[in-house]
Amino acid sequence: MVKPIYVLGGPNLNLLGTREPDIYGRDTLEDIHDRLKAKSGDTPVEARQTNSEGELVTWIQEASREASAVILNAGAYTHTSIALHDALRACQVPVVEVHLSNPAAREDFRQVNYVAPAVNASIAGLGAYGYELALMAALKLSGT
Ligand code: DQA
Repeated sequence: MVKPIYVLGGPNLNLLGTREPDIYGRDTLEDIHDRLKAKSGDTPVEARQTNSEGELVTWIQEASREASAVILNAGAYTHTSIALHDALRACQVPVVEVHLSNPAAREDFRQVNYVAPAVNASIAGLGAYGYELALMAALKLSGT
């Protein structure tokens, strides 16, 4: 049986569609997840979002056992979470980081990134389309 790709979203991504649409676009997270499910072929997509840092850590640990790869938008925890960094370093499956916006072109406090050094690849600044590219990359990296 093909293991699923976990698509994990961090804080405030549940507000996509209405949250600062000039920066994050008008697609809801459900729109994005539905598109990934339609494009993943035989590989199931397990899509989740949480506002809690600890839950994200627990899901990454779970993905290491149960998933073929992870697509992660950690939201603001990207810029703050050493716990997330440590969980990613321990993760045994490929992880692709995705951001709708391009944090490198934004405020100073977004220039710290604890996720990027612990993942296989990062995609940023392409809006919801970045998730589709992340899916292609996750399928390739996991060999599924
Ligand atoms: C984000 C970028 C982060 O800096 C921000 O805190 C988010 C969304 C993005 O997808 O562009 O919540 O991860």
